[in-house]
Amino acid sequence: MTTARYPRAADGRLSPPDPASPRRLLAGWLETRRSAGLSEHRARYGPLPVERYGDRNGRARLLATVDAAGLRGRGGAGFPAGRKLRAVARGRRPVVVVNGCEGEPVSGKDHALLTVAPHLVLDGAVLAAAATDATEIILCVHRDDPIAAPVAEALAERPSGEIPVRLVRVPGRYVASEESALVHFLETGDARPTAKPPRPFERGVRGRPTLIDNVETLAHLALIARYGAEWFRGCGTKDSPGTTLVTVGGSVTRPGVYETALGAPVAEILDQAGGPAERPQAILFGGYGGTWLPAPTAVHTRLSDEDLRAAGAALGVASLTVLPARACGLAETARVLRYLAGESARQCGPCMFGLPAIADDFTALVLGGRAAAQAERRLRSRLSIIPGRGACAHPDGAVRLAASAMRCFAPDLRAHLAGRPCAGAAHPALPLPDWNNRSGDWT
Ligand SMILES: Cc1cc2nc3c(=O)[nH]c(=O)nc-3n(C[C@H](O)[C@H](O)[C@H](O)COP(=O)(O)O)c2cc1C
Ligand code: SF4
Repeated sequence: MTTARYPRAADGRLSPPDPASPRRLLAGWLETRRSAGLSEHRARYGPLPVERYGDRNGRARLLATVDAAGLRGRGGAGFPAGRKLRAVARGRRPVVVVNGCEGEPVSGKDHALLTVAPHLVLDGAVLAAAATDATEIILCVHRDDPIAAPVAEALAERPSGEIPVRLVRVPGRYVASEESALVHFLETGDARPTAKPPRPFERGVRGRPTLIDNVETLAHLALIARYGAEWFRGCGTKDSPGTTLVTVGGSVTRPGVYETALGAPVAEILDQAGGPAERPQAILFGGYGGTWLPAPTAVHTRLSDEDLRAAGAALGVASLTVLPARACGLAETARVLRYLAGESARQCGPCMFGLPAIADDFTALVLGGRAAAQAERRLRSRLSIIPGRGACAHPDGAVRLAASAMRCFAPDLRAHLAGRPCAGAAHPALPLPDWNNRSGDWT
Protein backbone atom coordinates (compact mmCIF):
# COMPACT_ATOMS: atom_id res chain seq x y z
CA MET A 1 0.00 0.00 0.00
CA THR A 2 1.26 3.47 -0.83
CA THR A 3 0.32 6.20 1.61
CA ALA A 4 0.54 9.79 0.45
CA ARG A 5 -0.31 11.60 3.63
CA TYR A 6 0.45 15.03 2.28
CA PRO A 7 -1.99 16.52 -0.23
CA ARG A 8 -1.09 16.87 -3.90
CA ALA A 9 -1.52 20.16 -5.77
CA ALA A 10 -3.11 20.22 -9.27
CA ASP A 11 0.32 19.84 -10.90
CA GLY A 12 0.87 16.63 -8.94
CA ARG A 13 3.50 18.08 -6.61
CA LEU A 14 3.26 17.23 -2.97
CA SER A 15 2.45 20.06 -0.59
CA PRO A 16 4.72 20.37 2.42
CA PRO A 17 3.40 18.73 5.56
CA ASP A 18 1.79 20.98 8.15
CA PRO A 19 4.77 22.93 9.57
CA ALA A 20 3.09 23.22 12.97
CA SER A 21 2.77 19.46 13.35
CA PRO A 22 5.48 17.68 15.32
CA ARG A 23 4.89 14.56 13.17
CA ARG A 24 7.75 14.82 10.76
CA LEU A 25 10.36 12.07 10.99
CA LEU A 26 7.94 9.56 12.48
CA ALA A 27 4.88 10.56 10.41
CA GLY A 28 4.96 7.38 8.32
CA TRP A 29 5.39 5.13 11.30
CA LEU A 30 2.55 6.76 13.23
CA GLU A 31 0.28 6.24 10.25
CA THR A 32 1.21 2.78 9.05
CA ARG A 33 3.12 1.24 11.99
CA ARG A 34 5.71 -0.21 9.65
CA SER A 35 8.98 0.71 8.08
CA ALA A 36 8.76 2.74 4.85
CA GLY A 37 10.30 1.31 1.68
CA LEU A 38 11.70 3.70 -0.94
CA SER A 39 8.51 4.10 -3.02
CA GLU A 40 6.34 4.72 0.03
CA HIS A 41 8.93 7.14 1.38
CA ARG A 42 9.01 9.11 -1.90
CA ALA A 43 5.21 9.14 -2.08
CA ARG A 44 5.14 10.67 1.36
CA TYR A 45 7.92 13.24 1.21
CA GLY A 46 8.38 13.74 -2.53
CA PRO A 47 11.46 13.14 -4.69
CA LEU A 48 14.95 13.86 -3.44
CA PRO A 49 15.69 17.39 -4.70
CA VAL A 50 19.38 16.65 -5.15
CA GLU A 51 19.62 18.12 -8.66
CA ARG A 52 18.38 21.45 -7.21
CA TYR A 53 21.60 21.56 -5.19
CA GLY A 54 24.01 19.91 -7.63
CA ASP A 55 26.00 22.94 -8.84
CA ARG A 56 27.94 25.66 -7.07
CA ASN A 57 24.94 28.01 -6.74
CA GLY A 58 22.72 25.18 -5.61
CA ARG A 59 25.21 24.17 -2.93
CA ALA A 60 25.40 27.74 -1.67
CA ARG A 61 21.58 27.84 -1.56
CA LEU A 62 21.37 24.62 0.44
CA LEU A 63 23.97 25.81 2.95
CA ALA A 64 22.12 29.13 3.34
CA THR A 65 18.85 27.25 3.87
CA VAL A 66 20.33 25.03 6.59
CA ASP A 67 21.78 28.12 8.30
CA ALA A 68 18.44 29.89 8.13
CA ALA A 69 16.66 26.81 9.49
CA GLY A 70 18.92 26.91 12.56
CA LEU A 71 19.32 23.12 12.58
CA ARG A 72 21.57 21.87 15.38
CA GLY A 73 23.15 18.43 15.57
CA ARG A 74 21.05 15.79 17.32
CA GLY A 75 24.03 13.61 18.36
CA GLY A 76 24.52 15.33 21.71
CA ALA A 77 26.70 18.41 21.28
CA GLY A 78 24.07 20.54 19.51
CA PHE A 79 26.59 22.03 17.07
CA PRO A 80 25.05 24.19 14.28
CA ALA A 81 24.69 21.84 11.29
CA GLY A 82 25.15 24.58 8.68
CA ARG A 83 28.46 25.72 10.19
CA LYS A 84 29.90 22.20 10.09
CA LEU A 85 28.70 21.66 6.49
CA ARG A 86 30.33 24.94 5.48
CA ALA A 87 33.65 24.07 7.16
CA VAL A 88 33.76 20.70 5.39
CA ALA A 89 32.70 22.17 2.04
CA ARG A 90 35.75 24.45 2.08
CA GLY A 91 38.16 21.46 1.88
CA ARG A 92 39.08 19.13 -0.98
CA ARG A 93 37.23 15.86 -1.70
CA PRO A 94 35.34 15.61 1.61
CA VAL A 95 33.87 12.43 3.09
CA VAL A 96 30.48 12.14 4.80
CA VAL A 97 30.20 9.82 7.82
CA VAL A 98 26.72 9.07 9.13
CA ASN A 99 26.81 8.32 12.86
CA GLY A 100 24.17 5.67 13.50
CA CYS A 101 25.97 3.95 16.38
CA GLU A 102 23.88 5.27 19.27
CA GLY A 103 26.27 4.27 22.06
CA GLU A 104 24.09 5.84 24.74
CA PRO A 105 22.38 3.00 26.66
CA VAL A 106 19.17 4.93 27.44
CA SER A 107 18.69 6.29 23.93
CA GLY A 108 16.83 4.38 21.22
CA LYS A 109 15.97 7.19 18.83
CA ASP A 110 18.63 6.54 16.17
CA HIS A 111 17.80 2.86 16.07
CA ALA A 112 14.08 3.72 15.80
CA LEU A 113 14.67 6.22 13.00
CA LEU A 114 16.85 3.82 11.00
CA THR A 115 14.18 1.17 11.48
CA VAL A 116 11.10 3.12 10.44
CA ALA A 117 12.44 5.80 8.06
CA PRO A 118 15.88 4.72 6.77
CA HIS A 119 15.41 6.59 3.50
CA LEU A 120 15.06 9.93 5.27
CA VAL A 121 18.52 9.37 6.77
CA LEU A 122 19.96 8.23 3.44
CA ASP A 123 18.39 11.21 1.63
CA GLY A 124 20.02 13.49 4.21
CA ALA A 125 23.40 11.82 3.68
CA VAL A 126 23.15 12.23 -0.11
CA LEU A 127 22.17 15.89 0.32
CA ALA A 128 25.04 16.48 2.77
CA ALA A 129 27.38 14.99 0.17
CA ALA A 130 25.89 17.31 -2.47
CA ALA A 131 26.23 20.33 -0.16
CA THR A 132 29.91 19.60 0.52
CA ASP A 133 30.79 18.12 -2.89
CA ALA A 134 31.74 14.87 -1.16
CA THR A 135 32.14 11.71 -3.21
CA GLU A 136 32.02 9.16 -0.43
CA ILE A 137 29.42 8.32 2.23
CA ILE A 138 30.03 5.89 5.09
CA LEU A 139 27.21 4.82 7.43
CA CYS A 140 28.42 3.53 10.82
CA VAL A 141 26.36 1.32 13.11
CA HIS A 142 27.35 -0.71 16.14
CA ARG A 143 28.56 -4.20 15.37
CA ASP A 144 26.05 -5.92 17.66
CA ASP A 145 23.10 -3.84 16.51
CA PRO A 146 20.58 -5.84 14.45
CA ILE A 147 19.74 -2.59 12.67
CA ALA A 148 22.50 -3.39 10.14
CA ALA A 149 20.22 -5.87 8.30
CA PRO A 150 17.26 -3.52 7.59
CA VAL A 151 19.68 -0.72 6.78
CA ALA A 152 21.39 -2.95 4.21
CA GLU A 153 17.94 -3.67 2.70
CA ALA A 154 17.22 0.05 2.44
CA LEU A 155 20.61 0.61 0.81
CA ALA A 156 19.80 -2.03 -1.80
CA GLU A 157 16.68 -0.05 -2.75
CA ARG A 158 18.52 3.21 -3.45
CA PRO A 159 18.48 4.32 -7.10
CA SER A 160 21.51 3.58 -9.25
CA GLY A 161 23.54 6.66 -10.08
CA GLU A 162 23.35 7.95 -6.52
CA ILE A 163 26.56 8.19 -4.45
CA PRO A 164 26.96 4.73 -2.93
CA VAL A 165 26.79 4.40 0.84
CA ARG A 166 29.24 2.03 2.53
CA LEU A 167 27.89 0.35 5.68
CA VAL A 168 30.53 -0.11 8.39
CA ARG A 169 30.09 -1.97 11.67
CA VAL A 170 31.88 -0.40 14.62
CA PRO A 171 32.77 -2.04 17.97
CA GLY A 172 29.94 -1.59 20.47
CA ARG A 173 31.82 0.54 22.98
CA TYR A 174 30.40 3.75 24.46
CA VAL A 175 33.20 5.98 23.16
CA ALA A 176 33.67 4.15 19.83
CA SER A 177 31.00 6.39 18.28
CA GLU A 178 32.69 9.63 19.34
CA GLU A 179 33.65 11.39 16.12
CA SER A 180 37.45 11.08 16.28
CA ALA A 181 37.07 7.42 17.34
CA LEU A 182 35.02 6.76 14.20
CA VAL A 183 37.67 8.36 12.00
CA HIS A 184 40.41 6.43 13.79
CA PHE A 185 38.47 3.18 13.37
CA LEU A 186 37.90 3.82 9.66
CA GLU A 187 41.60 4.57 9.23
CA THR A 188 43.23 1.92 11.41
CA GLY A 189 40.57 -0.49 12.68
CA ASP A 190 41.02 0.82 16.26
CA ALA A 191 37.93 2.62 17.61
CA ARG A 192 39.64 4.80 20.22
CA PRO A 193 39.35 8.59 20.11
CA THR A 194 42.30 10.75 19.11
CA ALA A 195 43.48 14.14 20.35
CA LYS A 196 42.07 17.31 18.76
CA PRO A 197 42.95 19.38 16.83
CA PRO A 198 42.64 18.40 14.11
CA ARG A 199 38.92 17.83 14.29
CA PRO A 200 37.42 15.51 11.66
CA PHE A 201 35.98 18.45 9.70
CA GLU A 202 39.54 19.70 9.27
CA ARG A 203 41.31 16.39 8.72
CA GLY A 204 39.44 13.11 8.92
CA VAL A 205 39.17 9.96 6.83
CA ARG A 206 42.29 9.61 4.63
CA GLY A 207 43.29 13.11 5.68
CA ARG A 208 40.22 14.58 4.00
CA PRO A 209 37.73 16.96 5.63
CA THR A 210 35.05 14.69 7.07
CA LEU A 211 31.49 15.59 7.95
CA ILE A 212 30.30 13.44 10.84
CA ASP A 213 26.60 13.87 11.49
CA ASN A 214 24.12 12.01 13.60
CA VAL A 215 21.43 10.10 11.67
CA GLU A 216 18.64 12.30 13.03
CA THR A 217 20.45 15.51 12.02
CA LEU A 218 20.61 14.21 8.44
CA ALA A 219 16.94 13.20 8.44
CA HIS A 220 16.00 16.78 9.37
CA LEU A 221 18.34 18.02 6.62
CA ALA A 222 16.40 15.88 4.12
CA LEU A 223 13.19 17.71 5.06
CA ILE A 224 14.76 21.17 5.18
CA ALA A 225 16.13 20.65 1.64
CA ARG A 226 12.62 19.76 0.46
CA TYR A 227 10.43 22.22 2.33
CA GLY A 228 12.73 25.09 3.36
CA ALA A 229 13.90 26.92 6.45
CA GLU A 230 10.62 28.64 7.25
CA TRP A 231 8.78 25.33 7.20
CA PHE A 232 11.38 23.84 9.58
CA ARG A 233 10.90 26.74 11.96
CA GLY A 234 7.12 26.15 12.03
CA CYS A 235 7.77 24.01 15.12
CA GLY A 236 10.04 24.58 18.09
CA THR A 237 11.47 27.79 19.55
CA LYS A 238 13.53 30.59 18.01
CA ASP A 239 16.79 29.19 19.40
CA SER A 240 15.84 25.51 19.22
CA PRO A 241 13.76 25.19 16.05
CA GLY A 242 12.16 22.04 14.67
CA THR A 243 11.25 18.75 16.22
CA THR A 244 13.40 16.22 18.00
CA LEU A 245 13.19 12.53 18.63
CA VAL A 246 13.27 11.88 22.34
CA THR A 247 13.66 8.56 24.11
CA VAL A 248 11.44 8.38 27.18
CA GLY A 249 12.41 5.58 29.54
CA GLY A 250 12.87 4.48 33.10
CA SER A 251 9.74 4.46 35.21
CA VAL A 252 7.08 5.49 32.64
CA THR A 253 3.99 3.64 31.47
CA ARG A 254 4.88 3.49 27.75
CA PRO A 255 8.63 3.80 27.33
CA GLY A 256 9.66 4.51 23.76
CA VAL A 257 10.81 7.01 21.18
CA TYR A 258 8.58 10.02 20.57
CA GLU A 259 8.83 12.99 18.24
CA THR A 260 8.13 16.33 19.81
CA ALA A 261 8.53 20.01 19.02
CA LEU A 262 11.61 21.41 20.74
CA GLY A 263 10.42 23.61 23.59
CA ALA A 264 7.53 21.26 24.43
CA PRO A 265 6.76 21.04 28.17
CA VAL A 266 8.46 18.00 29.71
CA ALA A 267 5.16 17.17 31.44
CA GLU A 268 3.48 16.85 28.02
CA ILE A 269 6.21 14.56 26.72
CA LEU A 270 5.82 12.35 29.77
CA ASP A 271 2.05 12.30 29.14
CA GLN A 272 2.73 11.03 25.61
CA ALA A 273 4.60 8.15 27.26
CA GLY A 274 1.59 7.44 29.50
CA GLY A 275 3.03 9.38 32.45
CA PRO A 276 5.24 8.12 35.27
CA ALA A 277 4.57 4.49 36.17
CA GLU A 278 4.97 5.37 39.87
CA ARG A 279 5.81 8.44 41.94
CA PRO A 280 8.81 10.03 40.19
CA GLN A 281 11.83 11.28 42.10
CA ALA A 282 14.09 12.72 39.40
CA ILE A 283 14.60 12.81 35.64
CA LEU A 284 17.89 12.25 33.88
CA PHE A 285 18.26 14.45 30.79
CA GLY A 286 20.68 13.57 28.01
CA GLY A 287 21.58 10.01 28.96
CA TYR A 288 24.47 8.72 31.04
CA GLY A 289 26.68 11.69 30.22
CA GLY A 290 23.79 13.99 31.14
CA THR A 291 22.17 15.78 34.05
CA TRP A 292 19.77 14.84 36.83
CA LEU A 293 17.00 17.26 37.79
CA PRO A 294 14.56 16.73 40.67
CA ALA A 295 11.15 15.67 39.27
CA PRO A 296 9.27 18.79 40.51
CA THR A 297 11.76 21.04 38.65
CA ALA A 298 11.99 18.76 35.61
CA VAL A 299 8.25 18.55 34.93
CA HIS A 300 7.98 22.33 34.89
CA THR A 301 10.71 22.84 32.34
CA ARG A 302 10.65 22.52 28.56
CA LEU A 303 12.70 20.34 26.28
CA SER A 304 14.97 22.88 24.66
CA ASP A 305 18.61 23.77 24.94
CA GLU A 306 17.86 27.17 26.44
CA ASP A 307 15.20 25.99 28.94
CA LEU A 308 17.32 23.10 30.19
CA ARG A 309 20.38 25.31 30.49
CA ALA A 310 18.35 27.75 32.60
CA ALA A 311 17.30 24.84 34.82
CA GLY A 312 20.93 23.73 35.28
CA ALA A 313 20.82 20.83 32.83
CA ALA A 314 21.65 20.26 29.15
CA LEU A 315 19.67 18.77 26.28
CA GLY A 316 22.49 16.47 25.07
CA VAL A 317 21.10 13.50 23.19
CA ALA A 318 17.38 14.02 23.76
CA SER A 319 16.22 11.54 26.37
CA LEU A 320 14.20 11.58 29.57
CA THR A 321 14.88 8.78 32.03
CA VAL A 322 12.50 8.79 34.97
CA LEU A 323 13.74 7.58 38.35
CA PRO A 324 11.02 6.35 40.72
CA ALA A 325 10.90 7.63 44.31
CA ARG A 326 11.69 4.17 45.69
CA ALA A 327 15.14 4.12 44.00
CA CYS A 328 18.35 5.61 45.40
CA GLY A 329 19.65 8.25 42.98
CA LEU A 330 23.15 8.05 44.46
CA ALA A 331 23.32 4.29 44.08
CA GLU A 332 22.01 4.50 40.50
CA THR A 333 24.61 7.13 39.68
CA ALA A 334 27.36 5.03 41.28
CA ARG A 335 26.44 2.08 39.03
CA VAL A 336 26.38 4.25 35.91
CA LEU A 337 29.71 5.85 36.86
CA ARG A 338 31.26 2.39 37.23
CA TYR A 339 29.96 1.55 33.75
CA LEU A 340 31.33 4.82 32.30
CA ALA A 341 34.72 4.23 33.98
CA GLY A 342 34.80 0.78 32.35
CA GLU A 343 34.10 2.39 28.97
CA SER A 344 37.13 4.70 29.12
CA ALA A 345 39.55 4.11 26.28
CA ARG A 346 42.30 4.33 28.96
CA GLN A 347 44.45 6.72 27.00
CA CYS A 348 44.20 9.93 29.03
CA GLY A 349 45.12 10.18 32.73
CA PRO A 350 42.07 12.18 33.89
CA CYS A 351 39.80 9.59 32.31
CA MET A 352 41.80 6.42 33.05
CA PHE A 353 42.41 7.25 36.74
CA GLY A 354 39.79 9.93 37.39
CA LEU A 355 36.66 8.00 36.40
CA PRO A 356 37.35 4.87 38.51
CA ALA A 357 38.21 7.19 41.45
CA ILE A 358 34.90 9.03 41.05
CA ALA A 359 33.03 5.72 40.79
CA ASP A 360 34.79 4.50 43.98
CA ASP A 361 33.91 7.71 45.81
CA PHE A 362 30.28 7.42 44.74
CA THR A 363 30.17 3.84 45.96
CA ALA A 364 31.50 5.10 49.30
CA LEU A 365 28.73 7.74 49.41
CA VAL A 366 26.15 5.03 48.89
CA LEU A 367 27.52 2.98 51.79
CA GLY A 368 27.52 6.05 54.07
CA GLY A 369 29.42 6.77 57.28
CA ARG A 370 32.95 8.20 57.79
CA ALA A 371 34.36 6.93 54.49
CA ALA A 372 31.46 8.69 52.77
CA ALA A 373 32.40 12.05 54.30
CA GLN A 374 35.98 11.71 53.01
CA ALA A 375 34.70 10.61 49.60
CA GLU A 376 32.44 13.66 49.43
CA ARG A 377 35.38 16.01 50.06
CA ARG A 378 37.50 14.23 47.40
CA LEU A 379 34.65 14.36 44.91
CA ARG A 380 34.19 18.12 45.31
CA SER A 381 37.79 18.69 44.22
CA ARG A 382 38.04 15.89 41.61
CA LEU A 383 34.88 16.94 39.83
CA SER A 384 36.30 20.40 39.24
CA ILE A 385 39.67 19.32 37.81
CA ILE A 386 38.73 16.58 35.33
CA PRO A 387 36.56 18.36 32.72
CA GLY A 388 38.20 19.43 29.47
CA ARG A 389 41.34 17.38 30.07
CA GLY A 390 40.62 14.24 28.01
CA ALA A 391 41.16 13.73 24.30
CA CYS A 392 37.39 13.34 24.04
CA ALA A 393 34.42 14.54 26.09
CA HIS A 394 33.78 11.18 27.76
CA PRO A 395 35.12 12.22 31.19
CA ASP A 396 33.22 15.53 30.97
CA GLY A 397 29.96 13.60 30.63
CA ALA A 398 30.75 11.39 33.63
CA VAL A 399 31.62 14.46 35.73
CA ARG A 400 28.43 16.22 34.63
CA LEU A 401 26.40 13.21 35.75
CA ALA A 402 28.21 12.94 39.10
CA ALA A 403 28.01 16.66 39.90
CA SER A 404 24.32 16.84 39.02
CA ALA A 405 23.60 13.79 41.21
CA MET A 406 25.22 15.54 44.19
CA ARG A 407 22.95 18.57 43.62
CA CYS A 408 19.79 16.67 42.74
CA PHE A 409 20.02 14.09 45.53
CA ALA A 410 21.44 16.49 48.16
CA PRO A 411 18.92 15.46 50.87
CA ASP A 412 19.81 11.78 50.29
CA LEU A 413 23.48 12.68 50.34
CA ARG A 414 23.06 14.31 53.78
CA ALA A 415 21.22 11.21 55.02
CA HIS A 416 23.95 8.87 53.71
CA LEU A 417 26.66 11.02 55.35
CA ALA A 418 24.72 10.82 58.59
CA GLY A 419 24.82 7.02 58.35
CA ARG A 420 21.25 6.57 57.05
CA PRO A 421 21.59 5.17 53.49
CA CYS A 422 18.25 4.60 51.76
CA ALA A 423 16.74 1.17 51.20
CA GLY A 424 16.43 1.77 47.44
CA ALA A 425 20.15 1.15 46.93
CA ALA A 426 19.55 -2.59 46.79
CA HIS A 427 17.12 -2.37 43.83
CA PRO A 428 18.76 -1.09 40.63
CA ALA A 429 16.34 0.85 38.43
CA LEU A 430 18.38 2.05 35.45
CA PRO A 431 19.38 -0.25 32.59
CA LEU A 432 23.03 -0.96 31.84
CA PRO A 433 24.40 -2.88 28.86
CA ASP A 434 25.14 -6.49 29.53
CA TRP A 435 28.92 -6.48 29.79
CA ASN A 436 29.21 -10.24 29.46
CA ASN A 437 27.31 -10.06 26.22
CA ARG A 438 29.34 -7.33 24.60
CA SER A 439 31.26 -8.46 21.57
CA GLY A 440 34.59 -7.01 20.63
CA ASP A 441 36.78 -4.50 22.27
CA TRP A 442 38.28 -1.63 20.34
CA THR A 443 38.97 -3.36 17.04
C1 LIG B 1 31.80 9.51 24.45
C2 LIG B 1 31.01 10.03 23.29
C3 LIG B 1 30.15 9.17 22.63
C4 LIG B 1 29.40 9.64 21.52
N1 LIG B 1 28.53 8.77 20.92
C5 LIG B 1 27.77 9.24 19.88
C6 LIG B 1 26.82 8.38 19.24
O1 LIG B 1 26.66 7.21 19.62
N2 LIG B 1 26.11 8.88 18.21
C7 LIG B 1 26.26 10.18 17.77
O2 LIG B 1 25.59 10.59 16.82
N3 LIG B 1 27.14 11.01 18.37
C8 LIG B 1 27.90 10.57 19.39
N4 LIG B 1 28.80 11.41 19.99
C9 LIG B 1 28.94 12.77 19.43
C10 LIG B 1 29.87 12.73 18.21
O3 LIG B 1 31.22 12.87 18.66
C11 LIG B 1 29.56 13.86 17.23
O4 LIG B 1 29.55 15.07 17.92
C12 LIG B 1 28.23 13.68 16.52
O5 LIG B 1 28.14 12.44 15.86
C13 LIG B 1 28.06 14.80 15.52
O6 LIG B 1 26.80 14.73 14.96
P1 LIG B 1 25.77 15.94 15.03
O7 LIG B 1 26.53 17.21 14.75
O8 LIG B 1 24.77 15.62 13.99
O9 LIG B 1 25.20 15.94 16.42
C14 LIG B 1 29.55 10.98 21.09
C15 LIG B 1 30.42 11.84 21.77
C16 LIG B 1 31.14 11.37 22.86
C17 LIG B 1 32.05 12.31 23.57
S1 SF4 C 1 39.18 11.02 27.46
FE1 SF4 C 1 38.93 8.88 28.10
S2 SF4 C 1 37.63 7.94 26.54
FE2 SF4 C 1 38.34 9.89 25.72
S3 SF4 C 1 40.21 9.37 24.59
FE3 SF4 C 1 40.90 9.88 26.64
S4 SF4 C 1 40.92 7.94 27.77
FE4 SF4 C 1 39.73 7.62 25.90
